[in-house]
Amino acid sequence: MASVTSLTASVHQRLADALSAALPEAGAADPLLRRSDRADFQANGILALAKKAKANPRELAGQVLDSLDKGTVIAEAEVSGPGFLNLTVTDRAITENLAARLADPEGRLGVPLSPAAGTTVIDYAQPNVAKEMHVGHLRSAVIGDAVAQILRFTGESVVPRHHIGDWGTQFGMLIQYLIEHPHELDHSAEDAGTAGSAAVSGEEAMSNLDRLYKAARALFDADPEFKDRARRKVVDLQAGDPDTLAVWQKFVDESKVYFYSVFDKLDMVIEDADIVGESGYNDMLAETCRLLEESGVAVVSEGALCVFFDDVKGPDGNPVPLIVRKSDGGYGYAATDLSAIRNRVFDLKATTLLYVVDARQSLHFKMVFETARRAGWLNKEVTARQLAFGTVLGKDGKPFKTREGETVRLVDLLDEAVERAGAVVREKAEGLPEGERLSEAEIAERGAQVGIGAVKYADLSTSASRDYKFDLDQMVSLNGDTSVYLQYAYARIQSILRRAGEARGAAHPELALAPAERALGLHADAFAETVAEAAAEYAPHKLTAYLYQLASLLTTFYDKCPVLKAESPAQVENRLFLVETTARTLHQGMALLGIRTPERL
Ligand code: ARG
Repeated sequence: MASVTSLTASVHQRLADALSAALPEAGAADPLLRRSDRADFQANGILALAKKAKANPRELAGQVLDSLDKGTVIAEAEVSGPGFLNLTVTDRAITENLAARLADPEGRLGVPLSPAAGTTVIDYAQPNVAKEMHVGHLRSAVIGDAVAQILRFTGESVVPRHHIGDWGTQFGMLIQYLIEHPHELDHSAEDAGTAGSAAVSGEEAMSNLDRLYKAARALFDADPEFKDRARRKVVDLQAGDPDTLAVWQKFVDESKVYFYSVFDKLDMVIEDADIVGESGYNDMLAETCRLLEESGVAVVSEGALCVFFDDVKGPDGNPVPLIVRKSDGGYGYAATDLSAIRNRVFDLKATTLLYVVDARQSLHFKMVFETARRAGWLNKEVTARQLAFGTVLGKDGKPFKTREGETVRLVDLLDEAVERAGAVVREKAEGLPEGERLSEAEIAERGAQVGIGAVKYADLSTSASRDYKFDLDQMVSLNGDTSVYLQYAYARIQSILRRAGEARGAAHPELALAPAERALGLHADAFAETVAEAAAEYAPHKLTAYLYQLASLLTTFYDKCPVLKAESPAQVENRLFLVETTARTLHQGMALLGIRTPERL
């Protein structure tokens, strides 16, 4: 299915053709075309090619110009500086191209499907059972969701895997405690009887778990006999004892109620089938170890099954191995992740494994990936990559904590963001003209969309690897690089379209464009390239930067070019068409980031 080629792409193609005509030995060399302030585009690639061909760069640039098919697309072309090419496109080409993209029946706005699409298994949004979610889990969920959507939009098959922490020795203590205090999670037993009744809220579920966790911990620390019983429960759990597993399942179910309430608040769809926690790989662990041991990738050292690396050493200079099986026979985080790789590669047929996980786990993934490579599970055709994200910092630049030094609860943060956003929406709404006023229910709904959007956008607009400051004041600010700014830009267009009455947007390629219109149109044209780049680099921040620029160009356009009061009816239609194109682009771009664009704000 062919999508409409962007102007950028067609100028690039013309230039590449001219280049291979002028310098056949360059083959399919890239002319390196970029948007430029001097002309519409500048090509910088000729310099290096001339050098390689031992030719004079300005002369070669001149020859490329002579072979260039300008058609109705290129208005001006000139050699500049040591051998750059400056190109200006015609106003007609800008308008015609945007019109074709807006008319695209697939609604893809000209974004092509990637010819190299494969299957990406993306590991993100992986909180831990019986534990509160924190800002780190927020980052993984928000970045992972955006990357998954961007990839899907380019045609990649995406399989989410939410690798929740649902296994480990800590469950012995919890299970034993619940066996001894059977009424602590009582409601879930009742719910099971009254099919489907959701008697417990996410908040309650978490507070139940938290209370239970604290009580179990206290007993575990204070009572050596309880400690003993708890340890024996770990053995039962690992042996797959059905009664023990049934109690364990209660913790998982209760936690899921809580997880889903948070994902809901985040306006994020997580499918139950995609939640495959650590326990999901239990049946594979022994086999994973056997394969690693037999192939010699792992060796037994001091009773433990280990993989060693030349470049991983402790402070004492001794190698630090990846422990796949502990000396007591237990399996840990590494064995699970190695088994998950086998599952994702051989059963899910992934071509790419992506892990959206905190940078503090980078050493773990480096060792796990290297082990999988040695075992032949990863190779040139199937690659793995950690999309490592930085730490969330408070306003003071220190890791985000409450005043009491405790981890901030994710739910509290989200609620506060929504509350602040609600206040912003309300204040703005009071200034709206009579017919555009928002009802109380609308203010509440918009508050949630703006507040959650603000949190997501702030996270996504910083490159993932960097730490970022969680600053709610800045996040919900109406000015600057925030989602609210983009949402208002979108709503403002909708308001204009509503006020247009009879007038409809329609492209008029015969009209000359004002500089602000050209700038807006050319930037809208770059959407396809931006999405492709964001997908290839797993970089949602490239998309946020693009959208922010789009909204800024729109603001300039409003200042310079009246829409409904333009000179002629054709001019009105053409400008309506331009803002409509911008609106569609904003809407699609924000949707890929998981952010709503309300029609009225
Ligand atoms: N549950 C882990 C945590 O909270 C993250 C899991 C990351 N994914 C993985 N395959 N190890 O830190």
